[in-house]
Amino acid sequence: MKSIKEEKMSGKKLFIRVDFNVPLDEHQNITDDSRIKAVLPTLKYALDHDAMLVIASHMARPKGKVVPEFSLAPVAKRLGRLLEKNVKLAPDCIGPEVDDLVSKMKTGDVVLLENLRFHSEEQENDDAFAKELIKLCDVYVNDAFAVCHRIHASVAAITKHVPVRVAGFLLQKELSYFKKAMDKPSRPLVAIIGGSKVSSKVVALENMLHHVDKFIIGGAMANTFLKSIGCDVGMSKVEDDLVGIAGSVLKKAAKNGIKFYIPVDVVAASHFDPKAEVKIVPVQEIPSEWMALDIGPATSMLYSEVLYDAKTIVWNGPLGVFEMDAFSRGTTAMVNNVANSYALSIAGGGDTDVAIHKAGETDRISYISTGGGAFLCLLEGKTLPAVAALG
Ligand code: 3PG
Repeated sequence: MKSIKEEKMSGKKLFIRVDFNVPLDEHQNITDDSRIKAVLPTLKYALDHDAMLVIASHMARPKGKVVPEFSLAPVAKRLGRLLEKNVKLAPDCIGPEVDDLVSKMKTGDVVLLENLRFHSEEQENDDAFAKELIKLCDVYVNDAFAVCHRIHASVAAITKHVPVRVAGFLLQKELSYFKKAMDKPSRPLVAIIGGSKVSSKVVALENMLHHVDKFIIGGAMANTFLKSIGCDVGMSKVEDDLVGIAGSVLKKAAKNGIKFYIPVDVVAASHFDPKAEVKIVPVQEIPSEWMALDIGPATSMLYSEVLYDAKTIVWNGPLGVFEMDAFSRGTTAMVNNVANSYALSIAGGGDTDVAIHKAGETDRISYISTGGGAFLCLLEGKTLPAVAALG
């Protein structure tokens, strides 16, 4: 994989694929611009080296139709402010008007193409569409780590239609942090895996059995593990068809000498509601009509001890229903524990990121990945298809 630094770019037109799929509120205000800020080093570097920037991104999932709420207009404004430059928003990502705009660009100009996913061809990895996207540019730059697990036209097919393909600084940074954590980690390496489903993390869990020294499990997926060791978890969310797999992960972990931690107590609620009646109970005493919605205080304390000697921490997924205040303490405590640790700490996944922001600890985590699905794909031990396409 070639770095943007290895390519001369003065006077060249760069097609820079980024991931500006940022959260918006009901008034189209950007509520978190981390993904925009994360690619500024690449954009500034290219501008300082006298290039012309054609920037492309998707936003949300408009399914191949023009959906005005998913226009990149708010992003163009925010990017302009951050770069202190005029950023022109193209009316589309391909077509005669875009060609006209791009062909008239001068050194230092920045054009943001409109949402790639307004065309179904993007997600279909359509070759003709990819060719059309890049036809007026000299260099392809991928700095869109968060979408590199997708095989879409602007990250996959496009690479066949341009002689020069390079990785931007964000993509390089994401991959190198991950490598540091998983390939040659300082040990003990602790993986914290939360979230709601074992099914969405099972491949990652199996892969990490070959890397980590300790596992910490939280979130609704912990219920499936608890059930696999015979705990009655009442009305808690459980994937019954995965109970056997959870049990086999536990066995493999024991065989590999991995310490595997699941909750010892939970915050149980009478029903799924922020105002529900709650009580803290040992996992052996979850009332049959109640459900576990967060890890309990004893588990938080246990998990903080488990992290005490950690040298590397990889975290994906919240430990409870942290969107509801009543069930957010376990996740917040974990954010603080990770922040307080002396380990290299890497967190990824949309919800984990939100929880860290909510707890105000973004500065004390070594690295927060911009990727959700892409981060998980790396945890699964897979090569990201868009990275492979860069050659
Ligand atoms: C993300 O937010 O994870 C990326 O932008 C990819 O989005 P997608 O899951 O809609 O492909």
